[in-house]
Amino acid sequence: MRKKIIVGNWKMNTELNEGIKLADSINKHLINSACNATVVLCPPFTHLASISETIKGGSVFVGAQNCAFEASGAFTGEISAAMIKSTGAEYVMIGHSERRIHYNESDKVLNKKVALALNAGLKVIFCCGEILKEREENRLFEVVKRQIEEGFSNIDIEQMSNVIIGYEPVWAIGTGLTATPEQAQEMHAFIRKLITEKYGNSVDNNLPILYGGSCKPSNAGEIFSQPDVDGGLIGGAALKTEDFIGIIEAAN
Ligand code: PGA
Repeated sequence: MRKKIIVGNWKMNTELNEGIKLADSINKHLINSACNATVVLCPPFTHLASISETIKGGSVFVGAQNCAFEASGAFTGEISAAMIKSTGAEYVMIGHSERRIHYNESDKVLNKKVALALNAGLKVIFCCGEILKEREENRLFEVVKRQIEEGFSNIDIEQMSNVIIGYEPVWAIGTGLTATPEQAQEMHAFIRKLITEKYGNSVDNNLPILYGGSCKPSNAGEIFSQPDVDGGLIGGAALKTEDFIGIIEAAN
């Protein structure tokens, strides 16, 4: 049985004091409840160290939303995987569609980030997913296959034990549209098959594959009950303690 994982992607929201308050309230809530899921909060970079301190010894983990594609040096404005790790954060999201679309992050660049993050000792939450046009043209499997194959090229079987995959159909992110449980299951099973072909059963049986895209307390339970859906990547609903807790409870 794979443990459910719920990741809150805060995107570019909350100022530092608001972020600390939100993390503290989620953490306190979970300390006082019977929660079976692993919960990861991904606030903006500026909050990582403070939030890691706030939740120390608690029931949640901290992650970043991105990292640089080089290890160090003259890359003004960038944040390296090792810097993220030094804040106390343990996870990093790589390849979110907003990074692919607004910052033109290619599969090649994302592959470099995956390798650097794993080498720095972070767990990687690797996002993939098709845009609406690709689904309408029935190219969704071809697109996700390319994203996975290129994203993990040269990543070895041991490193895969620190990888989580997030399937986020781009048309469902922040739109209120959600994939049906059947659509999510179909793609998750496909991703698991790709991983088996490359790494064998020992990796794919343990690999968590999360669904992301307009998850809410009201729809999360049905999606998470699918056999290959191991939890969720939550955007908008991760910014309100009540909604986020509702989604975590749906994973129990
Ligand atoms: P959403 O975002 O839950 O607001 O659709 C999900 C994500 O982008 O990770």
